[in-house]
Amino acid sequence: MKIIVISYSLTGNNDTLAASIALALSAEHIRITEPSSRTMWTIILDLLFNRTPQVTPVLNMVKGNELVIFVSPIWMGHIASPLRSCFQQLKARIGNYVFVSISGGADGANPKLDDELQMRLGKRPVALVDLSIATLLPAAPKPTRKDTSTYHLTARDVRSLTDTVVKRLRETLTLPAM
Ligand SMILES: Cc1cc2nc3c(=O)[nH]c(=O)nc-3n(C[C@H](O)[C@H](O)[C@H](O)COP(=O)(O)O)c2cc1C
Repeated sequence: MKIIVISYSLTGNNDTLAASIALALSAEHIRITEPSSRTMWTIILDLLFNRTPQVTPVLNMVKGNELVIFVSPIWMGHIASPLRSCFQQLKARIGNYVFVSISGGADGANPKLDDELQMRLGKRPVALVDLSIATLLPAAPKPTRKDTSTYHLTARDVRSLTDTVVKRLRETLTLPAM
């Protein structure tokens, strides 16, 4: 089974994790980028007005018979808006897919992701892995939003998170040996 990892990242964490997952699974890795600069203000406007920002590349390489693994940050409880264009492009032809995020987690889990994926892609993921930076930090004092959103994954974090993701996927899917 061919695997394609599609990632978006603002501050690097999700792209780094996506690259490591792609390497572990011998998958193709496509990074989504935006032509215009991303600010807190555009994050809020996208959320308020349900906007779909323009991104590159066009996802012609996805045919529908692959496993697609999306990797993206969570912004204000929602999947980062740059992924919306990918979802729109792929909705009509996507087969099995997985959603992975290394999010902040300072306020706990992000419970709306499964429903958002169903709404945007017309089907639920075969696996959803919402990893959190808060669990990588000391439990006391309790990590704040500032602590989690300024944290950059270490090489050790990336190895450990990749192992967690691959293990979770192996529980659900038949994957190539590492
Ligand atoms: C504007 C903004 C909103 C965020 N909202 C959430 C959230 O609702 N839940 C969460 O777990 N993390 C949230 N985060 C934390 C990011 O998901 C986290 O820092 C992530 O690792 C960033 O990924 P990146 O480096 O790939 O851009 C938010 C970060 C930003 C900048």
